[in-house]
Amino acid sequence: MSINSKVVLIVGASSGFGKATAERLLELDCIVYATSRSVEKMQELLIKGAHLLGMDVTDDASIIAGVEQILAEQERIDVVFVNAGYGAYGTIESIATEEIQKQYDVNVFGVARVLKAVLPTLRQQKSGRIIFTASLASHLSIACTGWYASTKHALVGIAKALRQEVRDMGIEVIIIEPGVVKTEFAGVAFGLLDRVDHPADYLPLVDGFRRSMARSYDQAPGVDSTVKAMVAAAMVKCPKTVYCTTVDAKILKFLQRLLSDLIVDWLVLSWFKQSSRKR
Ligand SMILES: NC(=O)c1ccc[n+]([C@@H]2O[C@H](COP(=O)([O-])OP(=O)(O)OC[C@H]3O[C@@H](n4cnc5c(N)ncnc54)[C@H](OP(=O)(O)O)[C@@H]3O)[C@@H](O)[C@H]2O)c1
Repeated sequence: MSINSKVVLIVGASSGFGKATAERLLELDCIVYATSRSVEKMQELLIKGAHLLGMDVTDDASIIAGVEQILAEQERIDVVFVNAGYGAYGTIESIATEEIQKQYDVNVFGVARVLKAVLPTLRQQKSGRIIFTASLASHLSIACTGWYASTKHALVGIAKALRQEVRDMGIEVIIIEPGVVKTEFAGVAFGLLDRVDHPADYLPLVDGFRRSMARSYDQAPGVDSTVKAMVAAAMVKCPKTVYCTTVDAKILKFLQRLLSDLIVDWLVLSWFKQSSRKR
């Protein structure tokens, strides 16, 4: 490892985008600190040369201890991926308030905690990159994804303001926007959907959503194009401000800007109805 190797903190590295990005950055000679709630789940990364930290983004102490350990060992942090997140699927009315609070605690307040822990160091260094894993859902909110999508809308709002606030301090802020991609995400989101007690009025809609999204995840690409963008965001000299990483995300982000809200609603609900008919 050269002394010029980048020191990278990946929050949410036990699976999916975070894990694959860690693997790729290790191959590029980066010093990677992989974090998640469970160090046991990251043993493969340890073998590949990553440093492992147990970090729960809902727990300030674990984040602060992790950042302190990196600074004690490396004296700097060059790149931070705020990537941890999950989807609480279900209708707006039906998801329990405690579940909505958990969703925000991880996807939004978790990001706030990490930012507050790393920004003083990046400001002092006058350098660093913060890379947010946002989503197509940062722009397009569809039925049964509303609370999740609202957290991803919030993330883009936070990232855009931060980009302006720290630009003159040498810190860069980059947003990654994947569409539907095969990771552990769908298993967690559908698992939560199954536990939501929906009133009967919503059941046809929820059934259409479940079938439509299940089909989308079946046909979804793997992590490659998103990981390529995450690695570019960390490594290239002049990164883009936003990487929209999958074909569905590119097309749907464009269409939802172009079309009126009522046409988007009609298209989404027609898609659900059609999926319900295809049994
Ligand atoms: N896959 C998609 O279709 C898709 C599309 C757009 C955006 N995204 C976003 O991409 C990001 C990564 O998700 P993924 O698709 O790679 O799913 P994933 O395979 O489920 O990975 C999620 C990661 O977040 C970590 N995490 C969850 N809760 C955490 C907590 N409280 N504290 C610390 N870490 C936590 C998980 O670690 P542990 O559970 O081991 O702690 C895991 O490492 C998420 O922000 C997600 O919203 C995913």
